[in-house]
Amino acid sequence: MMAATKIPEVVLGSSSGQRTMPVLGFGTATDYLDPNALKTAVLEAIKLGYRHFDTASIYTSEQTLREAVAEAISLGLIASRDQVFITSKMWCNDAHPDLVIPALKKSLQNLRMEYLDLYLIHWRISGKPGKLVYPLTEEDLVPLDLKGVWAAMEESQRLAYSPLGGSGTSWGSSHVLESKVLQEIAEARVKTIAQVCIRWVYQTGTIVVVKSYNKERLKQNVQVFDWELSEEDLDKINQTPQHKTILREEYVSANGPYKSLEEFWDGELNSKFFKSLVLFIFFAFVVCGIVDCGVTTMCHSFFLFFISVSFFG
Ligand SMILES: NC(=O)c1ccc[n+]([C@@H]2O[C@H](COP(=O)([O-])OP(=O)(O)OC[C@H]3O[C@@H](n4cnc5c(N)ncnc54)[C@H](OP(=O)(O)O)[C@@H]3O)[C@@H](O)[C@H]2O)c1
Repeated sequence: MMAATKIPEVVLGSSSGQRTMPVLGFGTATDYLDPNALKTAVLEAIKLGYRHFDTASIYTSEQTLREAVAEAISLGLIASRDQVFITSKMWCNDAHPDLVIPALKKSLQNLRMEYLDLYLIHWRISGKPGKLVYPLTEEDLVPLDLKGVWAAMEESQRLAYSPLGGSGTSWGSSHVLESKVLQEIAEARVKTIAQVCIRWVYQTGTIVVVKSYNKERLKQNVQVFDWELSEEDLDKINQTPQHKTILREEYVSANGPYKSLEEFWDGELNSKFFKSLVLFIFFAFVVCGIVDCGVTTMCHSFFLFFISVSFFG
């Protein structure tokens, strides 16, 4: 059996004092939750040295995580709940100042724990209060009272999720695991692409949560602390164009709280990607206009042409 890896930790400052957080976390989100598979994977992960578990009310994985932690304690794998770092998240329908505390209490009840190590605002948008809804539709959106919600929450450090691009999930893509640049680096270092991704996030000084319910991949993902990527490797990765896997265009509308994708992402959108998108739409309209000689289509294409010109200066 592989010896447990000692995962590095960072110190988080909070109003209740200092708390250490393992830099690599176990993600529990999946399209179709299989409680038995999750429980088995959590127990394997604890044996391998994972101590940081990421759940959320919307993942419906809190109850199973609670059972797995309780079993790990009864098996003697960990001495008490204090030996694991548990993150949960408040879903958008609870992102209202008066609903934060009840939502936190519900998560604690699901986990049968007295405290969480970290409680996050799941997405920085707000849905109508009431039933938790996923996916949210444009009609579900209401303006977010960030100040009010934030006042009820503790601050957290940077935390990255989907380091492998959410490969195999309905919200992710295989772009990352099929990247040629990452493949070359992985081959040269005799590592897997997943290990290169996780190591890269770690070297940027960010906490990372990766999901695997598979024993071999759980092992692989934790073996990232006794080697490093060179400056050259980091440069190559940094030069790789980044994409938002999920743009959430459905939340942008003239009458809703977000009038454009730029506004929704609060300036985070990759401008290269955005420019390519505008150019692509422009050419698509031009081609359609030429093919069907539609006047409206031609007008759209000129409108987009002016937008493109303003982008490219
Ligand atoms: N705050 C948010 O909005 C948010 C959004 C997304 C995710 N998250 C959190 O972050 C966690 C991780 O993100 P994610 O699940 O989207 O994506 P991810 O960790 O980037 O990728 C997970 C996928 O990669 C596969 N995988 C894992 N290790 C691998 C390896 N070594 N080689 C090849 N494939 C591997 C997994 O399959 P197997 O299980 O079969 O190994 C799974 O299909 C989530 O579970 C969740 O806790 C948060």
